[in-house]
Amino acid sequence: MARPAAYGRLFAAAWTLARHDALLPAELEALYPPPVRDLGRALRLLAGKQAKIGRPGERLARALVQLGPVAIKLGQLMSTRADIFGAAFAEDLSRLKDRLPPFPADIARAQVEAALGAPIETRFSEFGEAVAAASLAQAHDARLLDGRRVAVKVLRPHIGVRVAQDSAALAQAARLVDRYVPAARRLEPRAFAQTVIRATELELDLRLEAAGCDELGEVMARDGYMAAPTVVWEGVGKQVLTLEWAAGAPLSDPAALTLPGLDRPQLAINLLRAFLSQALDHGVFHADLHEGNLFVEAPAKITAVDYGIVGRLGPDERRYLAEILWGFLDRDYLRVAEVHFRAGYVPAHHDRSAFAQALRAVGEPVFGRSASQVSMSRVLIQLFEITALFDMRLRPELVLLQKTMMTVEGVARRIDPDHDIWAAADPVVRRWIARELAPPAQAKRVVQESLDILHGLKRRLQDPEPSVALVATPERDSGWLWFFLGALTAGGAFLLGALA
Ligand SMILES: Nc1ncnc2c1ncn2[C@@H]1O[C@H](COP(=O)(O)OP(=O)(O)O)[C@@H](O)[C@H]1O
Ligand SMILES: [Mg+2]
Repeated sequence: MARPAAYGRLFAAAWTLARHDALLPAELEALYPPPVRDLGRALRLLAGKQAKIGRPGERLARALVQLGPVAIKLGQLMSTRADIFGAAFAEDLSRLKDRLPPFPADIARAQVEAALGAPIETRFSEFGEAVAAASLAQAHDARLLDGRRVAVKVLRPHIGVRVAQDSAALAQAARLVDRYVPAARRLEPRAFAQTVIRATELELDLRLEAAGCDELGEVMARDGYMAAPTVVWEGVGKQVLTLEWAAGAPLSDPAALTLPGLDRPQLAINLLRAFLSQALDHGVFHADLHEGNLFVEAPAKITAVDYGIVGRLGPDERRYLAEILWGFLDRDYLRVAEVHFRAGYVPAHHDRSAFAQALRAVGEPVFGRSASQVSMSRVLIQLFEITALFDMRLRPELVLLQKTMMTVEGVARRIDPDHDIWAAADPVVRRWIARELAPPAQAKRVVQESLDILHGLKRRLQDPEPSVALVATPERDSGWLWFFLGALTAGGAFLLGALA
């Protein structure tokens, strides 16, 4: 089927990438065959100044922001794959800022009325200007009739159509890559595109975000390390989300850290423990914990907003994570090796002692230095890199967790430069191990595991399809390459189509 509109969008996208030298970046020149190298040079001549500003990840981030919500989501997901694209590139990409000028408040009011099926005065006594605007939605400061201050998030008008068009273009690009770039097939470009499209679609339904906020609010209340605003369900629709206004000052405002009576070390500890206990104890976590989404109050209270991305960990991943952290906390990395084999993450045909040797490379720096200098998220990423050498297929949920941990760790260190993430994590991990690996819990698990195995067998007999995973493979640069080759192929195909 011909998709001229999708090709048109792809061509425009390729040009936007080229203008930021993110299509055939100069840094990868050595890898290109001569004609591609010449094309890259020509594009850089045409592109002008902005093609020279910043590292490749930064340039790609700028281009993606210009390309709109689906491209932004693509960038966000790519930035969670440091295992494919390399840590520096992923980190630069993750600083991609999804901020745009707001649309007028009148249009937002009309959207709210349409979504709630009622005039604005029947729900709100005040509905002010936008306080923040992004590619999918913007937030307004408002008041309910009962006087409560609320934040009302409203989708951009016609954003559904825009996302559908961009999704079609991305899917088309993935098909082209799959067809014409055999080397990229292992990276499953179509599955990756579908993941991007699905994630964007989910964020287009604010009822889901309301439910995420509600669920995490419940989970957070059990530990008290963090809170979520109350959902105002009468103000929730597919295109509208109403939450009580978060108390305190946003951490993105530098003045927040000088609030009188603020206990900065405790604040950093609460943040880290909130995240870890969500993931370990409850298997569900706020996966976008940057400063803009965190509000703080003295002495050490944190309220998180923005539940667009919620991460989930199954019982196996939670156990894996707890045991890994326990292994490192206890400085017992042989145990870490065992965990990988026991969980079946590393195929049994690999040599255990060779694997343990590789883990030593991760473990030694931890033993050698004071814990406060060793980043937990870096330890995890190194671990993932090493396990990839041993054919470990990384679960995407674990990568999202590692990525969120990197954000949390960064925020915690900016709150308290002496923050020791290992010391902060210790009680949460210890509590988990004591509870879950105690004899009664173990007996319960043996029964549960046997049941799971039986269910798994049954399912496999009924459904022999292998499951598709967003896979991590250790080849960083080829990942890069498929993205650029993909854009290139798309542009070429478009030209051929136009000439024919
Ligand atoms: N409940 C709330 N209370 C106070 N401010 C909020 C609330 N929800 C959102 N905001 C403000 O609006 C901004 C954007 O909302 P957010 O949900 O983070 O959307 P986005 O997904 O666009 O980042 C937040 O960074 C915050 O400043
Ligand atoms: Mg936000």
